[in-house]
Amino acid sequence: MPKLTFSARLAAICLLLSTTAASANEVADPTVVVDTSALPAITSSTGDANPYRGNPRAADIGRHAFNQACARCHGPDADNKGQVGPDLLKLDRACTRITDPATREMCIVDNDQYFLKSVQYGKTRVGVVHMPAWKDVLPPAAIWTIRTFLESRSRPTTPR
Ligand code: HEC
Repeated sequence: MPKLTFSARLAAICLLLSTTAASANEVADPTVVVDTSALPAITSSTGDANPYRGNPRAADIGRHAFNQACARCHGPDADNKGQVGPDLLKLDRACTRITDPATREMCIVDNDQYFLKSVQYGKTRVGVVHMPAWKDVLPPAAIWTIRTFLESRSRPTTPR
């Protein structure tokens, strides 16, 4: 490895600090618009579970939304190839191993709520924003379309 001069090392450290500072200011892209008017509306009687589960139209809308809002950190189509965010296609992996159907459903609904809250409020650890909060940009219906898209790619239709 070539020996770096003091100023080269200083420049590298500054670059590192400036990228860290940029990610600490992560904000949700306010230009993202998700049209869910073709889907059933979310009302106060919508339960905790993803109301669009298995709806192919919602999955299509969600794919587009995901690629606008989430792909830069979770990979295009959630391919998770070296981006900063975790692999979202694995969120339900533990649930799918549960053989009792009622318990498995509870596990998945739990993940529905975890997903909704994670996206609405983002992820901040010790004051650093790892993922921005989307609640002012994406209404619940839009977030459910994204969950539906991710499920359409990851969730086995029958338990293993
Ligand atoms: C600026 C980068 C960035 C953007 C944009 C982003 N995320 Fe994230 N997301 C992350 C990071 C980093 C984590 C892990 C944070 C942690 O656990 O501290 C994360 C975590 C999550 C989690 C929790 C996953 C788990 O296994 O616990 C979900 C769900 C999620 N993101 C969904 C989304 C969705 C949906 C979008 C688009 C609306 C999105 N993210 C946009 C960076 C991002």
